[in-house]
Amino acid sequence: MRRHPVAQMVIVGAIASAIGIVLALVIDWFPADAADQAGPIDTLYDVLMIVSVPVFVLVTTVVLFAVWRFRMRPGQEKQDGPPIHGNTRLEVIWTAVPAILLVSLCSYAYAVLHDIETKHDDQLVVHVTGQQFAWRFRYPQAGGRAIETTALVLPKDRPVLFKVHAEDVIHDFWVPAFRVKIDAVPGITTEVRATPTRLGRYPVVCAELCGLGHAVMRSTVSVVSPAAYDRWLARQSAPAGGAPTGGEDGEAGGGEAGGGDLAAAGRATFTTNCGSCHTLADAGTSGTVGPDLTTALRGQDEAAIREDIVDPDKRIASGYQAGVMPGNFAETLSADEIDGLVAYLASVSR
Ligand code: CUA
Repeated sequence: MRRHPVAQMVIVGAIASAIGIVLALVIDWFPADAADQAGPIDTLYDVLMIVSVPVFVLVTTVVLFAVWRFRMRPGQEKQDGPPIHGNTRLEVIWTAVPAILLVSLCSYAYAVLHDIETKHDDQLVVHVTGQQFAWRFRYPQAGGRAIETTALVLPKDRPVLFKVHAEDVIHDFWVPAFRVKIDAVPGITTEVRATPTRLGRYPVVCAELCGLGHAVMRSTVSVVSPAAYDRWLARQSAPAGGAPTGGEDGEAGGGEAGGGDLAAAGRATFTTNCGSCHTLADAGTSGTVGPDLTTALRGQDEAAIREDIVDPDKRIASGYQAGVMPGNFAETLSADEIDGLVAYLASVSR
């Protein structure tokens, strides 16, 4: 028995929708979840999929089916369609159903947002700064100098409030494992919260096209036990001279730095400002955005090194592009910091 064309259309649409939902739920869209916020966000995402996939698939299949089933046949060129003027019942339904869906989903999304942004009393505040093309992290210390790093270290199970800044253009601070993402906008401070719940190392990504080096504007977050975090903090705030991040035995670098204090300070400036883009064995950094300075520095004198820092586009190493390294270090670093950097890099180049 042949079914009515409209019944055929509804059956085809329903089958396609069922397949769409199964596919949407079977595919594993997310990386490991490493924060409290991940659970409710993933559930919200699944609900959005379950509601929106059938709507999309149903509308698309009905349109395609109608185009095929009711197409013009030979001999029908001069015929007109049946004289129909609207269908009030249908129009009320297709206005009311999407309206109810939208309002419900918005309310649910608002409730989830409110839940994951709950303020906690024992929160850890970390300042995140995006700059072409690296992330910097600053940990304010009560009554002491803030600690600055190029990789995030966070204690497990402690709520973190990220205060996000940008130095130049709009970036976007994204930790996929935390499901946390917020724009870094010059001139304002944006905020986002996460409570890490799983030990491990996860990527930190820039999710806003910000220039030539956008794709390599990455860092890592290490979620460690609270005791390991305290040890790390103590190491970071130890007086300059020791190995800032590397974990190498401090004697190798500190002991025989010819320029003394200046070069030691320069080494610290290097790990904070340059290490996320440049590899340098002596400083224990491993960035790959710019040239590997372990070899590129050889035979360079102080004048050349200084010029490469303050005017990076004047002389580009082969295989690298102009415009990737920030050209404003003469403004963002103090004269003392640049002197230290030059003294340190010159000492390493010998
Ligand atoms: Cu910073 Cu993309």
